Amino acid sequence: MRIFLDTANIDEIKKGARLGIVSGVTTNPTLVSKEGLSDYKAVVKEICSIIPGPVSAEVVVEGTQAMLEQAREIATWAPNVVIKIPSTIDGLEVISALTRDNIKVNMTLCFSLNQALLGALAGAAYVSPFVGRLDDVGHDGMQLVKDIVEVFRYYHLKTEVLAASIRHPLHCVVAAKAGAHIATVPFKVLMQMMKHPLTDVGNARFLSDWQSVQQR
Ligand code: E4P
Repeated sequence: MRIFLDTANIDEIKKGARLGIVSGVTTNPTLVSKEGLSDYKAVVKEICSIIPGPVSAEVVVEGTQAMLEQAREIATWAPNVVIKIPSTIDGLEVISALTRDNIKVNMTLCFSLNQALLGALAGAAYVSPFVGRLDDVGHDGMQLVKDIVEVFRYYHLKTEVLAASIRHPLHCVVAAKAGAHIATVPFKVLMQMMKHPLTDVGNARFLSDWQSVQQR
């Protein structure tokens, strides 16, 4: 399973790039507004220059024509930009049209297997089931990831499953075991994935024992 960062924070993205394991980034209008950023194009272009892999940028208009126009404009910003299109009926039409133009789409706000299946049939490169938001309303978000992976495998669909709305490291464990191709994680969760108290205790012990060796 590959790891994407789910953020519009440039420092986090630079740190993730240095770690060498972040192969893409997902942004959304909420993440951009959280950073107090206003020049969306400049932000997306900067992220695309830091991370050579897929960087998802979302359309922020309604209606097929407006979405198509904005998606085609965003697609010119960088060669590695991927267009996030919502899992709606208009969105489906837009995904089909963009796929015909060879523009990569990440179908976002996916909350059901049917949405994922239709997105894949329309040619989306990625579908993003929102795990945490399903958990929030009392559903099992990870079960949706498992179901989508199973059905895509069954029908040999090329669309990749991008587990999104990840809230904690256990989500990453279950997504990996379910066979999700990618998990997009907040920076905090990425840090938590690598942390283990026994590693910290063991490391501190090794360092202090080594110091006593030096003092002999
Ligand atoms: C994915 O592409 C979205 O940006 C993201 O995962 C949404 O997560 P949230 O439910 O924490 O806002």
